[in-house]
Amino acid sequence: MHSKLMARLAALSMVTAAVSTLAPGCSSDSNADGGPDASGLVGDALPDAPPNWTTAPNREVRNLHMTWQRDSATTVTFQWATTDTDLSAYVPKVWAVPTSLTERSGDAVVMPFDESYVHTGAGLIYREALLGIETGTEDFVVWTVEATGLQPDTEYTFRVGTWEGFDPQTGVFTSPDLSAPSTVRTGLPKGERKPFSMVMAGDSRGGTDEIRANVDRLAEIDARLWFFNGDMTNGGAQVEWDDWQDAMAPVLRSRVLMPVQGNHEIFADIYYAQYALPQEQTLPEDLLEHAWSLDFGNVHFVGLDSNTEETVAAQVDWLDADLAAARQDPGIDWIFVMMHHGVYSASNHGSTPRLQEYWVPVFEKYDVDLVFCGHDHDYERTFPLRADQVVEPDEGIVYVVAGGFYSPAYSNGTAWWTATSAHGDLRNYVEVGVDGGTVNVTAWSGDGTEVLDQFTLTR
Ligand SMILES: [Fe+2]
Ligand SMILES: [Fe+2]
Repeated sequence: MHSKLMARLAALSMVTAAVSTLAPGCSSDSNADGGPDASGLVGDALPDAPPNWTTAPNREVRNLHMTWQRDSATTVTFQWATTDTDLSAYVPKVWAVPTSLTERSGDAVVMPFDESYVHTGAGLIYREALLGIETGTEDFVVWTVEATGLQPDTEYTFRVGTWEGFDPQTGVFTSPDLSAPSTVRTGLPKGERKPFSMVMAGDSRGGTDEIRANVDRLAEIDARLWFFNGDMTNGGAQVEWDDWQDAMAPVLRSRVLMPVQGNHEIFADIYYAQYALPQEQTLPEDLLEHAWSLDFGNVHFVGLDSNTEETVAAQVDWLDADLAAARQDPGIDWIFVMMHHGVYSASNHGSTPRLQEYWVPVFEKYDVDLVFCGHDHDYERTFPLRADQVVEPDEGIVYVVAGGFYSPAYSNGTAWWTATSAHGDLRNYVEVGVDGGTVNVTAWSGDGTEVLDQFTLTR
């Protein structure tokens, strides 16, 4: 992230200029070339700041979230924001201890101290410079600490924040600028075929009231990681990110979440500034973090940027090499790919020709198992497809559209490829359980009461 910041800040003024040419009041989710756009942002009110937030500079930990940039089994990247942007006065640290070494004392968690439990990172200033938006030119800071050398498949109890308040005599942090203890579990080493589950979701478009109504239940799902298929926000202004991350906090403070960029993250610089993602060195420089892959147990995950034809084309060589290596890897059984736009969709936006043209041949070449998309705010699953035809199970790729994480609802379509579809009014998110050579997929209504779809893949 850091190496690209200056280029991105320079690009931000260009984004702002482009956005200003869009017609006011446009409320459609779509645009002519399918690229990032300002629809829904222009003329729409921005959300209020999250409740109980003060704007005065302070070091209160907010927007805490976790990603993986490297090995999921031995690292976790922690990120958070403060309103105090004085980088020189503040060293961000993460104190992460295997939970098995902690003790409970009433409601308090007692964490032993050792230098080896403390990880240090860096701060990054970025500037929001959005057209005509009141939060216009504020500086923001995101603190990033990548904890490395962790034990695989191990729950850690952690706190993030400033180190200044630590008293080495008592082993107690006295500063109020630390987050409350939370937990996160490191991933399974590549090749380990132990059962695990994940959540795949997409498209909130600012539906944070509904997220808040459901999030405590969602945070209880026994998922080892979350994936999010873009359109978290309506436009990507920082106040929207604050609102989304505050609403999602019960999930984000205890689960790693790996996102891809939707077309509504139009202020992409803000998104990429605050989400540290794997940096794939063979991608074109300007696409670092736009596409990434991650191994977890016997699954190879790939996230892609589906936003423009140029971008889609520019990821093909990397994608081909990445999938070739994964398919040759004896530790990998399954390949799951996610992106924002629908490869096959029968709802409002429909299928996305550039994805079928550039990426589907690569997916088919390496027998990708599942492709997860968002963008259309309904739920759809295809029959197994190959060469644009329905084929037998195990011979084709299953494509899922799940863009109903509390976004404005779209009606559900059907087409020749449709195995299942459900109206966006029901909202949706998907739980995927991997158990060796079996994958069980369950799509839930947004309130968690209704199973919209269930299917099993075997390999
Ligand atoms: Fe979208
Ligand atoms: Fe969307």
